Amino acid sequence: MASFSNATEANMSLHSGLAHPAHRAWTEPHIHASQLIYPLFVTSRVTDNPIRGLEPNVQWGAGPAGDFATLVAHLRPLQAKGLRSVMLFGVVEDKCGQGHMADSPDTPVITCTQALRKALPELLIACDVCMCEYTDHGHCGVLRRVDGEDIIDNDASVKRLSDIGLAYARAGAHMLCPSDMMDNRIGAIRAALNANGFAQVSIMAYTSKKASCMYAPFRDAVESTFKGDRNRYQHPVGSTSHALLAYDRDVAEGADTVIVKPSLFYGDIVKELAAKKLVPVACYVVSGEYKMLSDYGNGTNSMDAVVREAHLSLVRAGASILITYFTPFILERLSQW
Ligand code: PBG
Ligand code: ZN
Repeated sequence: MASFSNATEANMSLHSGLAHPAHRAWTEPHIHASQLIYPLFVTSRVTDNPIRGLEPNVQWGAGPAGDFATLVAHLRPLQAKGLRSVMLFGVVEDKCGQGHMADSPDTPVITCTQALRKALPELLIACDVCMCEYTDHGHCGVLRRVDGEDIIDNDASVKRLSDIGLAYARAGAHMLCPSDMMDNRIGAIRAALNANGFAQVSIMAYTSKKASCMYAPFRDAVESTFKGDRNRYQHPVGSTSHALLAYDRDVAEGADTVIVKPSLFYGDIVKELAAKKLVPVACYVVSGEYKMLSDYGNGTNSMDAVVREAHLSLVRAGASILITYFTPFILERLSQW
C-alpha cells in the first residue's frame, strides 16, 4: 500500500500527488546549507592556482601577506548564504619519507587554520589528517622495509598521525578528519587530544573508504608523487564487510561522525551506516565524482539538475552531511531547490 495515497490497491492514484509542485516537494528530502562541508586546497604560495578537473576550484595561495586574503574574500559571501564548515587539505613541495611538512609550524594547513579562525570566527574548521600530501612516496603512512618490500608501518604511522592531529588542534582546528585508513588511529588521536586539553575537538573518521579510481583530480590537486595502489589499507570497492567492521571500531574508538567515500556508487553503504543511528553519516562526493558530474552537466546543459539529483540521492539514502566541491554552486541555488 502506498502510504502517501488514499487510493485502494485496485485504483492507485499517483498523479494526484504529483500535480502540484508544493505537493511534490513534500515527497522529497531537502538539502540545507548547514549540511555542506566545502573542501579546500591550501598552499604557502603567493598566488591561487587552477586545479585540472576540479575547475573552478583552485589551490588557494597564502598571498603576499600570508593571510589567505583571497580565500577569506571567497568564503565571506558563502557564509552569508549559509556556509558553516570547510575542510582543509595542504599542498606542499617539500615532501619526504616521514612527511615532516604535515605538522611543521609553517605548513599551509596550520597557517590557514589560524588565518580563518581569526578572519571568520564562526566558521567550523576541519583539517584533513593524512600523510600522503606530505610524503615523497605518496603513501598515507610511514613505510617499513620487510623482505625487500616497502610496507606500511601501522604503529609508526598512527604515532605520526596523532602528532599531526594534535598540531592542527593546537592551531585551532574544530574537527580532525583522518583519511589515512591506518588501523586504530581514531583511538590514538582521541587519546592524544584528551591528554592535551583538546577534549572539545571532534573527529570525523573516514570509515568506508574504498581503493577507488575516483581520486585522480585530487591527486593532481595535492601534487602527489604517488604511483601504485592503496589496496592494503583502503577497502575493496565491492566489499560491505569492511565498512560495517570499521563503523563499529571507529565509533567505539571515539569517532563523532563517519564518512562514506566515494559516495555516489555506495548508496547501499550510506543507508546501512545511517540505519545504525549512533553518529551522523557524511558523504564525500570526491574529485572524480565531481568531474563525472560536471562533464555530464556541461555536456548536456543540465548542471543544475544533475548536481541536485546526485546530492539529493545521498540525503535520501541517509546522509546528514555532504562534503562536496559543488558547495558554492549548491549554495547559489538552494533557495530554488
Ligand atoms: C588521501 C585522500 C584522498 C582523498 C582525500 N584524502 C585520495 C586518496 O586516497 O588517494 C580523495 C578526495 C577526492 O578525490 O576528492 N588521504
Ligand atoms: Zn592519504
